[in-house]
Amino acid sequence: MGIQLDDIKAQIALLAEELNRHNYLYHVLDAPEISDADFDKKFRLLRELETTSGYIPANSPSLRVGAPPLDRFDKAVHSIPMLSLDDTFSFGEVDEFDRRVKEFLQTHDIRYTVEPKYDGLAVELTYENGNLTRAATRGDGITGEDVTQNVRTIKTVPLSITGEGVPELPELPELIEIRGEIYMTKADFDALNARREESGKPLFANPRNAAAGSVRQLDPAVTAKRRLSITCYGTGAIRGLTLTCQSQLIEWLSTHLFPIPYHFKSAQGIDEVIEYIREIDAVRAELPFNIDGVVVKVDEFDLRQRLGEKTRAPRWAIAYKYQAHQAQTRILKIAPSIGRTGVITPVAVLEPVSVGGVTVSRSTLHNWDEVKRMGIRTGDTVIIERAGDVIPKVVGVVSHDAVLQVQVVEPGLCPECGSRAVRQEGGAVLRCAGLNCPPQLQGRIIHFASRLALNIDGLGDKIAAALFDAGLVKDFTDIFRLTKDDLIRLPRFAEKSAVNLIQAIDSAKSTTLSRFIYALGIRHSGEFVSKVIAANFETIEGLYGVSVERLCLIKQLGEKTSLTIAEFFAEENNIKIIETLRTLGLTLTNPDYRPDMPEMPDMIDAGRKLAGLTFVITGTLPAARKHIEEQIRAAGGVVSSSVSRQTSYLIAGDSPGSKLGKAAALGVKTVSYDEYLALL
Ligand code: IVH
Repeated sequence: MGIQLDDIKAQIALLAEELNRHNYLYHVLDAPEISDADFDKKFRLLRELETTSGYIPANSPSLRVGAPPLDRFDKAVHSIPMLSLDDTFSFGEVDEFDRRVKEFLQTHDIRYTVEPKYDGLAVELTYENGNLTRAATRGDGITGEDVTQNVRTIKTVPLSITGEGVPELPELPELIEIRGEIYMTKADFDALNARREESGKPLFANPRNAAAGSVRQLDPAVTAKRRLSITCYGTGAIRGLTLTCQSQLIEWLSTHLFPIPYHFKSAQGIDEVIEYIREIDAVRAELPFNIDGVVVKVDEFDLRQRLGEKTRAPRWAIAYKYQAHQAQTRILKIAPSIGRTGVITPVAVLEPVSVGGVTVSRSTLHNWDEVKRMGIRTGDTVIIERAGDVIPKVVGVVSHDAVLQVQVVEPGLCPECGSRAVRQEGGAVLRCAGLNCPPQLQGRIIHFASRLALNIDGLGDKIAAALFDAGLVKDFTDIFRLTKDDLIRLPRFAEKSAVNLIQAIDSAKSTTLSRFIYALGIRHSGEFVSKVIAANFETIEGLYGVSVERLCLIKQLGEKTSLTIAEFFAEENNIKIIETLRTLGLTLTNPDYRPDMPEMPDMIDAGRKLAGLTFVITGTLPAARKHIEEQIRAAGGVVSSSVSRQTSYLIAGDSPGSKLGKAAALGVKTVSYDEYLALL
């Protein structure tokens, strides 16, 4: 019986060793020798033998799964503190480090090692007599957490120290604490988040958080499902083995099947160090994992000994950090902000943080649905990204503030002018429909004065800007209050041009209803729509408080357009402004009004005649291009700027451009303006 059991034990030990070797071939070298099915078969056999015999060797791959969940992690005290590193951000600082080292040691020519600085979490693996007995997080450097059960599930962590071609026992140290970094590759991170998204779980903000969250999991079964990786780069206490330098340590780790840092280099002198830093920088985007810099270490251990350490970090190593494009910070407040086009976006006011050398204290959150989707709340710790010159944005939530659970509420009113904020453009965009809204005012006035609107000659972009800068126009109605004296005080404004502008404003005060509606700059209401409205409503008062339903009865108005018009005239602030403009001299006539025939003879009932057709326009046409475009859209057609096979018609006017040739080449039909009207 005893002999039989010994046989089984021997078989189990062999199988375990074999499976560990295949694990290494597969997970570390990425060069499997057997199929997954064969591996599974051997693995099942091992488990069967282990269950029947009750013998599970310390290095058995079956130990990688199946430990029961914990209530909490035990404390794990480090026999030698796990230090941190001083950061440097320039080659000048790296030189400075070299200078300090050489001065301290009174030597020149130091050998260094260069390794990527993996962006994960530091751990310490304790091997006693060759077997993994503890895995601990760094914690505060003195005390971490015992995460042995979880770390065992990481396929590339050797459960026992072996090694091909390594002489048996004499080489195995009685104790060795191996330090390294647990991380998640970019691919594993993406796959994990994709799965989480599918099952509606919150996403991890970045691979580091995913790795840390997976290691600090009370249920090892969960950790086992997360694909984690490890790289080993240091030691704590050692008994029964002498290593003299980092290069030798890395070689020892490698021969004993521990994963070691990619691109590990030994460098003679600081210039070579800098060369390697540059090399790693050049490939870092293509690395399968995130790094946030490079670690430079004095190679020789006895030199390290002499250099010693400060409280937090050793004198013999530094981190060189690449320009970070991301940083973490807290959201102090989420405030609505309004842009020049009236779009109201949520903006996060942040605890100031440096991202790639620039202090960031505000960041747009794009839109209100995005805030909801990401679950962002005031007090949250978030990740800010700033790539190149791009405006900083919040890309993920790291943690929620436990106390400040302030939900973000979409504002009902514009934060600047108090007008109603309404959802537009398929609901994604929140917009202020207020005419008098300060950030929008300059743009609105320029439109108000433009040729197809009130046609105030001489009031273009530059003059509008000057009027704003001088504080002469603070309100939409101020434009009708301007006097010659106001204008003369502006820089470079001659008496003559002042008189002309005042005259232009005065004569613009008498206009048509359709021009005035166009001038109000209601979204989706161009010249065509304005004429349609004027044809249907005799006076402007008829539009005050008009319902969407009433507008939808008008054939040429789509739902979207009807909605924005109704929203505009539902806003009391807007009505007040129109009334003020009237007291300041605005008089409206309505030659377009057609009570009996609201379709208007000159506008043609477009209906949906052009639905499904795509038009491109070239050359000079009898009507304004904007007008034709609007007409096409109102009739259900699409306007495109370039000719392709998808184009249905090219409308060609006088002196057409190269589009004509392109249309001919593609077999796209070209029509004249009259032929186009006939289509309608
Ligand atoms: S050496 C005293 N080497 O960086 C030596 N650390 O900022 C300290 N890290 O806590 C560790 N890659 O989590 C070392 N190749 C590497 C590293 C590395 C990443 C992390 C580690 C450490 C932190 C220090």
